[in-house]
Amino acid sequence: MKKWYAVIGDPIAHSLSPFMHDTWFQENGIDASFLPIHVEPSKLKEACESLQLLGAGGFNVTLPHKQAIMPFLDGIDEAASEMNAVNTVVRNGKNFKGSNTDGDGFVQSLLTADPRTDDKIILVGAGGAARGIAFALNRAGFSDVTITNRTFRRAEELAEETASESMTKSDAEQNLGGFDIIIQTTSVGLAEDEALPISLENAKTGALAVDIVYNPIDTPFLKKAEEKGCRTLNGVGMFVYQGAIGFEKWTGIKPDTEKMIKVITEKLG
Ligand code: ATR
Repeated sequence: MKKWYAVIGDPIAHSLSPFMHDTWFQENGIDASFLPIHVEPSKLKEACESLQLLGAGGFNVTLPHKQAIMPFLDGIDEAASEMNAVNTVVRNGKNFKGSNTDGDGFVQSLLTADPRTDDKIILVGAGGAARGIAFALNRAGFSDVTITNRTFRRAEELAEETASESMTKSDAEQNLGGFDIIIQTTSVGLAEDEALPISLENAKTGALAVDIVYNPIDTPFLKKAEEKGCRTLNGVGMFVYQGAIGFEKWTGIKPDTEKMIKVITEKLG
């Protein structure tokens, strides 16, 4: 039987995951399809049962289901439990197991910019996305991570869990020049006229500014960082690597990430 995989979310029409995985299936001679499936929150349990019944080989989970899916799975791995969210589900016989490849995908993307593990990193945001990244930075041996957030208490809590430091937003803005890598994990600033989640006025020339948002590819945060003489890394790499880690879990094959980053960058550019 032809294998099939899916991504579930609400909305789902603009997901690039079907394009990415279908391309990788073709490149690797795998006879499989990847479907975008629109699932409303109230239908999540039924959707999960249907994916099971109809024999999906695995699936991706995107907003707003990353946490809500967890009770409907047969288990979750360590990455998903640390992050308290699932973005990739793998079939193991009759069981669906939840995993999370977002944090490791982020780190793999970051590694393409040749960071040093003792670089001073500031993580802006303390929500779900920041959480996965903080744990993954930890696993990858980055030893100097500071977390800042509009709601300082959340930064403190996440810092405690991940053996990181925390800093108030105003202190972070004042001391920004001391950081080698600035990672923006909030959804703020997508619109041109919105304020950035952190002022980049004091950013160090040559620091690396990283945004996890990939659509638009050139976010206001990255534009401002460029103006300040920072190097930039957009969110396309994180998107491709989180997908590649999932693809390998499903098929045992490491897909071509470099080419995919180029293709998706062109598509979005
Ligand atoms: P996600 O899973 O996408 O990270 P989330 O858990 O809701 O979503 O977290 C959103 C993050 O963006 C948080 O760090 C949030 O800051 P608060 O903890 O203070 O809410 C941040 N954020 C959202 N809107 C913001 C704004 N207008 N200014 C600054 N930070 C904002």
